[in-house]
Amino acid sequence: MQTHRKVHNAMDKVTIHTLRQMKTRGEPISMLTAYDYPTALLIDQAKLEMALVGDTLGMVVHGFETTLPVTMDMMVLHCQAVRRGLKRALLVADLPFMSYQISPEQAKANAARLLAEGGADAVKLEGGQTVAATVRGLTETGIAVMGHVGLTPQSVSAMGGFKVQGKTLEAAQHVLDDARALEAAGVFAIVLEGIPAPLADIITRAVSVPTIGIGAGAGCDGQVLVMHDLLGLYDRFVPSFVKQYADLGAAMRGAFEAYRDDVRARTFPAAEHEFSLSDEVLQALRAHLDAPETE
Ligand code: KIV
Repeated sequence: MQTHRKVHNAMDKVTIHTLRQMKTRGEPISMLTAYDYPTALLIDQAKLEMALVGDTLGMVVHGFETTLPVTMDMMVLHCQAVRRGLKRALLVADLPFMSYQISPEQAKANAARLLAEGGADAVKLEGGQTVAATVRGLTETGIAVMGHVGLTPQSVSAMGGFKVQGKTLEAAQHVLDDARALEAAGVFAIVLEGIPAPLADIITRAVSVPTIGIGAGAGCDGQVLVMHDLLGLYDRFVPSFVKQYADLGAAMRGAFEAYRDDVRARTFPAAEHEFSLSDEVLQALRAHLDAPETE
């Protein structure tokens, strides 16, 4: 029965169950970062399964060197903008640096903000065995959590830079143990970032939840990219694992230059961009201006 509260077809809305079924059926899952309303609309139109309000917004939108300065207030604001545009895809929001590491209670309070104020469907946090208890606290509260292991940008200093992880036997075993700990703590999916493809493949087969790779090869259940990397909109560097699907940076610069040239040449605005005034009003206005002023 159709109720007046039903906004869109529930069959269309991607849920964590949809993702689990996709893994079972071997259907690849697509995820992209989104930080604003227009991007959210386009992600739904393109029928991607997930949008991530990632803390990468600190770097690609706000120009910070790392994700560390990102605050909860910034995350909530961007999440709200994405929520307004997103109806179908699952909306995941990052818990930023030091918003969940202090205590499980802090993690719950901040995850609740992303869900209640930001409108997110789920939260993501970085780390494996060390955050498993925190993740369990969230999932037992009924919060959907996505894990993130391998290269974890919030630990950039401890890792000695943005470096591929899991290259030695010990390190690879550690990443696998991290993924297993998150699965046991109840995550619905795990991002595998910056690890060798064969390791990602092994982890993907070892865990029951979908793995979403970024710089982790084709063996993952799905892929995620930072939108600015995919579109050629980030000026500093493009990681080698990124496929650039468009050069919007060049397209935008070209458009800005053309606009500047039109303004300088007075060819913009043209007649079709102007508002007209009736001859009657114009003549009256001119007559008023020409009339000598009286005391
Ligand atoms: O913050 C982010 O955009 C991310 C992706 C790189 C997975 O965590």
